[in-house]
Amino acid sequence: MRLQLALLSSALLLPGCSRSSAPKPPAPTAYGIQIAEVSGGKQVAAVGSALPQPVVMQVNGADGNPVAGALVSFRGEGVDFNPAQALSDASGQATAAVRLGSAPGDYQIVAETPKSGGGSAAVTLRETALGYEQKLGSEVNDKYCNRCHDNESTPERVSNFDNLSPAPHLYTDGATYNRISDADLLNIIARGGPALGKSPQMPAYGSTLKPAEIKALISYIRAMADPPYQTPGVKYGK
Ligand code: HEC
Repeated sequence: MRLQLALLSSALLLPGCSRSSAPKPPAPTAYGIQIAEVSGGKQVAAVGSALPQPVVMQVNGADGNPVAGALVSFRGEGVDFNPAQALSDASGQATAAVRLGSAPGDYQIVAETPKSGGGSAAVTLRETALGYEQKLGSEVNDKYCNRCHDNESTPERVSNFDNLSPAPHLYTDGATYNRISDADLLNIIARGGPALGKSPQMPAYGSTLKPAEIKALISYIRAMADPPYQTPGVKYGK
């Protein structure tokens, strides 16, 4: 009784604490042993905005088949999920819309399902929020660079990637990009491939783009790297 009162009063003492008003999790009717991403990881959106696609997870049982009615909980620091908890549907899948927080950078999203014998299975996805400058960089990139630097075509844009030899690297290729200094990025973007002894198929943009646009592009390229780019000389805590 005392404990209950203590809990109640601490809940009352936390105005704006979202947990006290959070809807109760739905009761699972089944349990799986494994959870896997169907889609929705590695997306990019402006800070504070929704990801273009929802996150879709699938719960599977010991036989590897999808499990319906299993509880899937989503969490991530500074991230909003709608819903934060759901039961898997007939195909074992649970879907949530995701809104990233107001700080630029990478967000980890954890999707978790309880297992029948106790414990839980979880999987972590990474999403990226672009700050103002990075967002500008992504727009410049869409306009000038993506047709060669993105290997996938869209309805509006046919990718030229497969016609290039040597092909450029994808910005997500952190192993390659993280080794290129800001000065060299600036150089190749402004003066073209030959400035770094690379292919002339990489055009020079020094007279097309403003310095601020090139700076924004570099900031965007850094934000896309996987593994993440670490500014030289800055020590990162674990
Ligand atoms: C016409 C195609 C084309 C366009 C458009 C283009 N690039 Fe490239 N880019 C290339 C090719 C090809 C390479 C690889 C050169 C090599 O490895 O010799 C490259 C290489 C690079 C590199 C060196 C790292 C890498 O991927 O190998 C950077 C940085 C780069 N491009 C940035 C940009 C930016 C930023 C833009 C837009 C402002 C852009 N590129 C537009 C074709 C293009």
